Amino acid sequence: MQDHSPADRLWSPATDNKLGYCLYRSMAQPDLDSAGIDKILEKARHRNRTRGLTGCLHYENGMFFQWLEGPWQQVFQLLDILRDDDRHLNMTILDQGTLTERLFEGWEMHFSDPKAASLFDWLADWGNRTDDHQAYVSRVNAFLHSLKAG
Ligand SMILES: Cc1cc2nc3c(=O)[nH]c(=O)nc-3n(C[C@H](O)[C@H](O)[C@H](O)COP(=O)(O)O)c2cc1C
Repeated sequence: MQDHSPADRLWSPATDNKLGYCLYRSMAQPDLDSAGIDKILEKARHRNRTRGLTGCLHYENGMFFQWLEGPWQQVFQLLDILRDDDRHLNMTILDQGTLTERLFEGWEMHFSDPKAASLFDWLADWGNRTDDHQAYVSRVNAFLHSLKAG
């Protein structure tokens, strides 16, 4: 991983076809149930296959954490679509940058929730250091990437 940028705004690397990633957090729309999440995933996986995107979506305590990776232009375009999706709110970009290789190769959109692993437990074990944004982001990334290993 390289070229980390501040997470406060979207950016584009010099070539849009470069492999990029974005990690964001959002709040699920309160009425969204597991059938609604299944519906999101079904379509997301289909579309990601055609767009060359891979990644991971974790849902816990009414919040989504999603790692998206692929050709930067595709990641960027999907983020615009996601911003308009009212099944979630308050999208916050936590991290973004370029990659030399995919971290979720072959995963059109892995899904996890606390039945598989708890991000909040993972953060609590670490002491919930909300004062250190970069450390928080690294911890969230480490959690998502541990799902791939497991
Ligand atoms: C939390 C969340 C994650 C999503 N992830 C993806 C995704 O990885 N890929 C995708 O194509 N759409 C994803 N979507 C759905 C998009 O917002 C959008 O509904 C869909 O891409 C539009 O498809 P359509 O234009 O064919 O209707 C997600 C939606 C939510 C709420």
